[in-house]
Amino acid sequence: PLVEGAAGMRRKVTGIQHGGRCLHAARCAQTAAAPAAQPRIKKFQVYRWDPDTPGDKPRMQTYDIDLNTCGPMVLDALIKIKNEIDSTLTFRRSCREGICGSCAMNINGGNTLACLNKIDTNTSKPTKIYPLPHMYVVKDLVPDMSNFYAQYKSIEPYLKKKDEADEGKEQYLQSVQDRQKLDGLYECILCACCSTSCPSYWWNGDKYLGPAVLMQAYRWMIDSRDDFTEERLSKLQDPFSLYRCHTIMNCTKTCPKGLNPGKAIAEIKKMMATYKEKKAATA
Ligand code: SF4
Ligand code: SF4
Ligand code: FES
Repeated sequence: PLVEGAAGMRRKVTGIQHGGRCLHAARCAQTAAAPAAQPRIKKFQVYRWDPDTPGDKPRMQTYDIDLNTCGPMVLDALIKIKNEIDSTLTFRRSCREGICGSCAMNINGGNTLACLNKIDTNTSKPTKIYPLPHMYVVKDLVPDMSNFYAQYKSIEPYLKKKDEADEGKEQYLQSVQDRQKLDGLYECILCACCSTSCPSYWWNGDKYLGPAVLMQAYRWMIDSRDDFTEERLSKLQDPFSLYRCHTIMNCTKTCPKGLNPGKAIAEIKKMMATYKEKKAATA
């Protein structure tokens, strides 16, 4: 650690002198005398598939990791495997703190973020890791997110104003109450854990937008500063984009950020009913 000296100089503290003896040295001696911990070998079974190897078939590969020398999260184990055992293992990650959404995968049967998922320390059971289900696989644990991102783009996830004459002149203000309506929606990190846990999305992922994208559609519909609520609703009127949701709620159960996309979809359906009534009345 660095500390400020009396004269404002910085110096490094390497050990605290106490009674003529360096505590740091005493601790080192204690550590050296402690018996070596028993290894805690945990098996990780990981989905592997490499499209660049002709004829390669998907398979599970098992890696042994000593939990004594590994961080607590599943992502720590994957990074350890890649660094120390098998550099060909491929997965996405960036922030390692549940913010970027890159490390979404299926761990022991549930979609979640590897960086937020604690390793099950029961060494008698392997941890099984697959890519997000029902997605095309690019390689190993990396799913192809192209369709998901195209669907996100299709809902125009940004503020839209009818009168753009004043654009850039001043801030679009929002009341505290209106801002609060976005809580529980804006925190979504687009990891796709929810959409890829949804049976409706598995079977109709090309036409049904899925819970993650629909929750963001809702987020912009209810933003008090946005002028395109009705147009946003109108774009979802077909039988697939919204109405493939059957309120099974897998999405909400699996969200690693504790959000509730199932509820957001139900709210869109309510808004849609009012919108349709209004449209019928003015027809
Ligand atoms: S709602 Fe949750 S699970 Fe779905 S994309 Fe957002 S953060 Fe991920
Ligand atoms: S509530 Fe709707 S979006 Fe969520 S899992 Fe069920 S069908 Fe899919
Ligand atoms: S590494 Fe960013 S969410 Fe896990």
